[in-house]
Amino acid sequence: MIENFKTEIDLGLSSTTKKLPSKYFYNKKGDALFVEIMNLPEYYLTRSEFDIFKNKTQDLIQHLGLEKNTFFELIELGAGDGTKTKQLLKSLSKENYSFNYLPIDISHNALSLLKKDLQNSLPKVLVHTQQGDYFEVLASLKQSNHPKVVLFLGSNIGNMEDAVAAKFLKNLAANLQTNDTLLLGVDLIKAKEIILPAYNDSKGVTAQFNLNLLQRINDELGGNFNLDDFDHAPEYNEREGIAKSYIVSNRSQTVHITATGNTYHFNKGEKIHTEISRKYNDALLQEIIKDSDLHIQTKIVDSKQYFADYILKKQ
Ligand code: AVJ
Repeated sequence: MIENFKTEIDLGLSSTTKKLPSKYFYNKKGDALFVEIMNLPEYYLTRSEFDIFKNKTQDLIQHLGLEKNTFFELIELGAGDGTKTKQLLKSLSKENYSFNYLPIDISHNALSLLKKDLQNSLPKVLVHTQQGDYFEVLASLKQSNHPKVVLFLGSNIGNMEDAVAAKFLKNLAANLQTNDTLLLGVDLIKAKEIILPAYNDSKGVTAQFNLNLLQRINDELGGNFNLDDFDHAPEYNEREGIAKSYIVSNRSQTVHITATGNTYHFNKGEKIHTEISRKYNDALLQEIIKDSDLHIQTKIVDSKQYFADYILKKQ
């Protein structure tokens, strides 16, 4: 892990247009900051998807094609604290559906908390956690022949470049059987006035989240970034439908990282690209899945029509 981290940081800071991978946001501090982000008034994504899970539960169950007398596996990629999924689990459990819940997450800690919580609140639901990168665990899906429903929520796919997302969904579909379903949560393309504040909140939590990446390089790789010399700078282009986060050097400076043995120069105003958050519409999703065996069954949106959970079926 630390070797990959070092290599990827060195590569990203050595290229002409500097970049750092967003997956490294999520250390302990980053996890806590993301929880704070989810509670910000500007960050509507989590609340919108929760609205769907809370108020459109029966639509979800119906369109996923779930039947009470057919056992199925409910697999969640990047489960986190499972707050949204719990709404669905509650209904399925109450209505005596026959299923196992299999949350997969990169964080051991998140999984054990989730399991404990569910054992208390929904004791009838059988939970089998699996720790790992979701790219790695895709192959293990094939190990059982039960019908499957895969949940990939929270606009997590938005962090992937289009080509990567297409490859990921193609790979996922290849590991499913005919009629298995995918519930894919995506943020919808909309006005800049709504999207940009979600990535540039007035309390500066998202700024801390973004700059924490530099702190992590200092802590884990012996960097000497001075966080005051860098600013958080998000952008959103409505035509493209992608929110992009950058860290901007606010002066000309040189930073040394002990672990890589290199120094990196930053011009005043030079940007480091840290994250993309792709927003979707029907046509874009259609384009992303065109080489996969998935087709769009339906989409369920929240009351404000900000967010969509698409139901995709494997052909
Ligand atoms: C966790 C990837 C869905 O892109 O909206 C929040 C991460 N970054 N604020 C997103 C994030 C800045 C978030 N996802």
